[in-house]
Parts: sequence; C-alpha cells; structure tokens
Amino acid sequence: MRVLVTGGAGYIGSHTLVELLTEGHEAFVFDNLSNGHEEALSRVKQLANKDFGFVKGDIRDGEALDKAFLEFKPEAVIHFAGLKAVGESVEQPLAYYENNVAGSVELLKAMGAHDCKKIVFSSSATVYGTPQYLPLDEDHPVSPVNPYGQTKLMVENILKDWAQDGRSATALRYFNPVGAHVSGRIGEDPHDIPNNLMPYIAQVAIGKREALQIFGDDYETRDGTGERDYIHVTDLANAHIAALGTMNEAAGFSVYNVGTGQGTTVKELLAAYGETVGQELPFETVQRRSGDVASSVASPKKANEALNWSATLSVHDATSSSWNWQAQNPDGYAQ
Ligand code: NAD
Ligand code: UFG
Repeated sequence: MRVLVTGGAGYIGSHTLVELLTEGHEAFVFDNLSNGHEEALSRVKQLANKDFGFVKGDIRDGEALDKAFLEFKPEAVIHFAGLKAVGESVEQPLAYYENNVAGSVELLKAMGAHDCKKIVFSSSATVYGTPQYLPLDEDHPVSPVNPYGQTKLMVENILKDWAQDGRSATALRYFNPVGAHVSGRIGEDPHDIPNNLMPYIAQVAIGKREALQIFGDDYETRDGTGERDYIHVTDLANAHIAALGTMNEAAGFSVYNVGTGQGTTVKELLAAYGETVGQELPFETVQRRSGDVASSVASPKKANEALNWSATLSVHDATSSSWNWQAQNPDGYAQ
C-alpha cells in the first residue's frame, strides 16, 4: 500500500516506517521536524534498505498537504504528527488544539480532496482519565483530565463522524511506548529533559542524570510506585500495519487498545534496567506528580482478536534495546 506517514520523523513514526517498508509497503513522510529528526529518516532508509519521500511540512498548512498528496497519491495515512507533552498542554492548550485537532481536520480535508479513504490515528490511553476498573477495555468511559487528552478524544470523535461512505478510520490507544529498534540505530531522543520514565532511566544509566526521582511510593500497588503497561515500540509499530490490513470500504470507525495486558511498577522497571546495564541504578523518592494515576493497564483482547495482533516483546527486550540505543548514541541523533 502507498502510505503517507505524518510525524514519521518522530519516535513511534520512525519505528513504524521500518516495519512498513520491510513489509513491502511504500511510504512518504510529512513532518515539520518540530520534535522529529531528519537523521532518523536516513537511518530508517539504511535499516529497511529502501528509499522513501520526505516533505518538511506542517499539517496545519493545507497547501503543503495538497502538494504532498498530489505528488505521492497515498492510499492510506498513518497519522502520528502532533504535540504530546501533558504538562505543556496545560500551559499552552491552544497550541495543542491547533496542532492536534485543527491539524487533523486539515489532514482529513486533504484526504477528501485526493480520494484517500483510510487513516490510522495515534490516540492514547490518556483518554480514559482515572481508571474506574482494570484492565482498561475499550468500553471503559472516556474522561481525559488534561488538554492533551482532550485533543486525542476530539480527534477520535471527528474520525467517528468522518468514517462513512466508504471511508475508514482506526484509532489506536497506545499505553506506554518504550524501547528502541533492536539495531540500536533509531530510538527515542527527547529534545529536553525527559518527562517519561524509560528515557529518564536511560539517561541515569549513561550518567547524564544523577538519579531517578520516583514520583511517590504510597500508591495502592505492589510496591507503592505507579504501575503502567509498557508496550515495546516495535510491537506498537506492528499494530499499525495490522490495523491497515483490516481497513476496507465497510470498516467505518474502530478503536483499539495497544498494550500488553501486563503492569510493571516504577521500581520494577528501574530494577529491570539495572539488570540490563549490570548495576543498580540510583533513585530518590519524591512527591507524587500531579495528574498521575496509580495504575494503568490495558486489556488488549480486542486488538488481539480483531487485528490478529499481540505484543511479543518483553520489558527486558525494551530495557535492552533502549540501552543499546542509548549506549550507541549518548547524544541521540546529534553527532
Ligand atoms: P514525537 O514527538 O517523537 O513524534 C511526533 C512527530 O510529529 C515529530 O516528528 C514532530 O516533528 C511531528 N509534528 C508535530 N507537530 C506537527 C505538525 N503540526 N505538523 C507536522 N509534523 C508535526 O512523538 P511520538 O512519541 O512518536 O508520538 C507519536 C504520536 O503518538 C503522537 O500523536 C502522540 O501524541 C501519540 N502518543 C504518544 C505516546 C508516547 O508516550 N510517546 C503515547 C500515546 C500517544
Ligand atoms: N515516573 C517517575 N519518575 C519520572 C518519570 C515518571 O517516577 O521521572 C513515574 C510516573 O509517576 C508514572 C510512571 O513513571 O507512575 C510512568 O510515567 P511516564 O511519564 O513515563 O508515563 P505516563 O503514564 O505518565 O504518561 C504516558 C504518556 C502520556 C499519556 C499517558 C497516559 O507519556 O502521553 O501515558 O496514557 F498521556
């Protein structure tokens, strides 16, 4: 299939590109590089041993989208482009509504103008808000607690209305993506101090940060620290390809959790990373981070059955691939 990948120069997009190209699809990347890396695209080409087009453009720019659609004539879109920092979304909500919601509407308009009828969208488990029960299935009520989560839910709702008359849309609600490509050539390269747990631990392991701050150890979990469902980025990438394979004129709108079904606490993840690098990693316990929930674990049953997809990689695979990437590229893509 000919697939336009918005946000393809980012963390999840670059890993998905490798799998897409390896599976024999053709790709074209549309990314404004606000948080992505052109170097990641060069490395994807080497890993997949296949070329693809790239345009530096913004999804809020209808003309740039039009040009890209005219040039590449995609049959489907995988839509990763957007802003993703929860804290920043509280401080700058309009930037989130503009990039994530208005940008997605521009993209759908371009798809309409160029007769492109399939889209896979990056949603997030954050749409569930505070869990009322676990594991979270797709029928769990949605109630996002920050502007970032609102934007994901709004786009899901827009896609639900859009996906008719032969158009189909699949929203994938990612749990916590972690890890890197097995080669260590591409991985997560946060522009600032990492907000998320695994990239922060990676920087402690390489000696860039002194110690992990554990945000609270008085949650109702096995060891008092927050529990999450960590999904390896390569498994996540493959969920997109599985989703593309199920979309047809009658498919309409679908939503799937993408997780493993297994919870891991902060202390467990830190210990697993320590085993990977062969030394215990330093931490200090600090106050809870506002907005955090005790536990978030997926029921991936719907995706397992309907997409014939399931996670195959372990937390250990995630820590070892993350470390492989971090150790080979201590400064990320900057050479
Ligand atoms: P990322 O920041 O690495 O990738 C996003 C890419 O989109 C970047 O390359 C960035 O340059 C590009 N981009 C941003 N705004 C754009 C715009 N207006 N026009 C064109 N390009 C733009 O993030 P990621 O972790 O790869 O996340 C990809 C998607 O998955 C995002 O939509 C994110 O919200 C969603 N998601 C991520 C997580 C996570 O923890 N990483 C969890 C759930 C959902
Ligand atoms: N944590 C720490 N110290 C850190 C960073 C995180 O203790 O330095 C803890 C958090 O308190 C939480 C766990 O590690 O218990 C995971 O935190 P992350 O920030 O890695 O992930 P979140 O679950 O908070 O956030 C992720 C995505 C968001 C998304 C959210 C809900 O990053 O985009 O899941 O789905 F909105």
